[in-house]
Amino acid sequence: TTQVKKICCLGAGYVGGPTCAVIAYKCHDIDVTIVDLNEARIDAWNSDLLPIYEPGLDKIVFERRGKNLFFTTQVEQAVIEADLIFVSVNTPTKKSGLGAGFAADLAYVESATRKIANVAKSSKIVVEKSTVPCRTAESMRTILEANSNENIRFDILSNPEFLAEGTAITDLLSPDRVLIGGLQTPDGIRAQQALVEVYAHWVPTDRIITTNLWSSELSKLAANALLAQRISSINALSAICEATGADIDEVAYACGRDTRIGPKFLKASVGFGGSCFQKDILNLVYLSEQLNLPEVAAYWKQVVDLNDYQKKRFVSHIIKTLFNTITNKKIAVLGFAFKKDTGDTRESAAITLCKDFIQENAKVRIYDPKVSTEQIFFDLSAPGVDDHESLNKRVTIAKSAYEASEDADAIVITTEWDEFKELDYTKIYEKMHKPAFIFDGRLILDAEKLRNIGFRVHTIGKDFINRC
Ligand code: NAD
Ligand code: UDX
Repeated sequence: TTQVKKICCLGAGYVGGPTCAVIAYKCHDIDVTIVDLNEARIDAWNSDLLPIYEPGLDKIVFERRGKNLFFTTQVEQAVIEADLIFVSVNTPTKKSGLGAGFAADLAYVESATRKIANVAKSSKIVVEKSTVPCRTAESMRTILEANSNENIRFDILSNPEFLAEGTAITDLLSPDRVLIGGLQTPDGIRAQQALVEVYAHWVPTDRIITTNLWSSELSKLAANALLAQRISSINALSAICEATGADIDEVAYACGRDTRIGPKFLKASVGFGGSCFQKDILNLVYLSEQLNLPEVAAYWKQVVDLNDYQKKRFVSHIIKTLFNTITNKKIAVLGFAFKKDTGDTRESAAITLCKDFIQENAKVRIYDPKVSTEQIFFDLSAPGVDDHESLNKRVTIAKSAYEASEDADAIVITTEWDEFKELDYTKIYEKMHKPAFIFDGRLILDAEKLRNIGFRVHTIGKDFINRC
């Protein structure tokens, strides 16, 4: 089989960076070069302050950088030298044109593929790491093969990434499984085996699954759809809980004890966020429609619709509880990242909530331990419009949860950061307007304890009905 000695990764983002850093950390015999067109991002990867926050990432990067792990904007050189190339570029939902709002924008994947085809001087294994619609590998293969000759051949593999942000390093060091799809031809299987051997440096071989290309591509979309569907299911039930006196944590626990259902990923919330779930489901919806399967498309679309409903429902409940108006009221928003332990805000529920509060003319004071002020203003501005000045009248950023909640009428918990569980709520209560409300969108607070302090507490999926 081919032995991989040099790896190049196109795309130094949330996936390419951590994934390839871990490969370098576990495979000292392989040189790993991560490239990106974005110079600022590469500079940050080469500095003391890495461009993404991920627990445990610093240690791994600092240990291997300059030894067998390199970050550069010299795309061509890195491609020329590599035996194996990961394509780990962004695949956002298309904003315009055919399939707008649903289909994945494959422009970055295509331009990365063309770059490889144009500069390669020797044979390469090209690995699709980005999440793509089923059969994208075929387009990549056509582009690559149009540029191959008797001296250069390209083998194409699909190796989707299953890491979750906030736990990327533990997920990568000890994955439930690694999935490698390849064409089931002798050449395809040989390439597949070469990548298996890279992962086998640290992943037990029974956790490395090999399939055909299309199963691998579809499994990625399927896994995200199934995960998101669990959250929408529990969130749909949370609405029933609020109306009946059932408690969603108790329901989730009781159901999760069935080993067929399992306890994970059943935490009700203000709605899922992150760069993947919505994008990948919409991608699956589009694929289903293209395949003339409208019932299948409608089924998966409902997972996203329910998620939007959950956010709207929470906002309406907050407004109703605050005596049907939040005009000029101070709302402390605790958390802006889409989940804890990351600074990533892509599709964060907090963005939708804050925009709704601003629309209602509330004064929003936001605190998040890892998200920068610039990022928050960027996310809350209308696309392409720099309206920081008008936003400044409505939105301020606090340096702590205490500062955010001073003089506030209500606290809204939007991200489940651990530090929010350990705040001195007596101190917070004293400085708030009365009645002081807390809306827990993450089910992390001890409601009874807070009620004893004097707070009016509203938790998703719990006794809303008795309290309003
Ligand atoms: P990202 O936006 O953080 O990173 C992508 C990077 O690719 C950017 O820095 C961009 O500048 C770079 N890029 C674009 N075109 C390039 C080119 N031609 N050459 C070199 N660099 C180029 O995106 P991400 O979150 O890392 O996601 C990448 C892919 O992985 C997506 O398809 C996504 O769906 C998938 N994925 C993401 C996650 C996640 O948790 N974020 C998990 C699994 C899979
Ligand atoms: C997800 C998949 O888990 C991962 O396998 C894939 O590679 C990328 O997409 P990520 O989006 O990083 O990972 O985080 P994840 O932990 O899945 O959380 C997604 C969203 O769902 C977050 O907003 C989270 O708060 C929310 N969530 C998760 C819930 O509301 N309830 C849960 O029980 C679990």
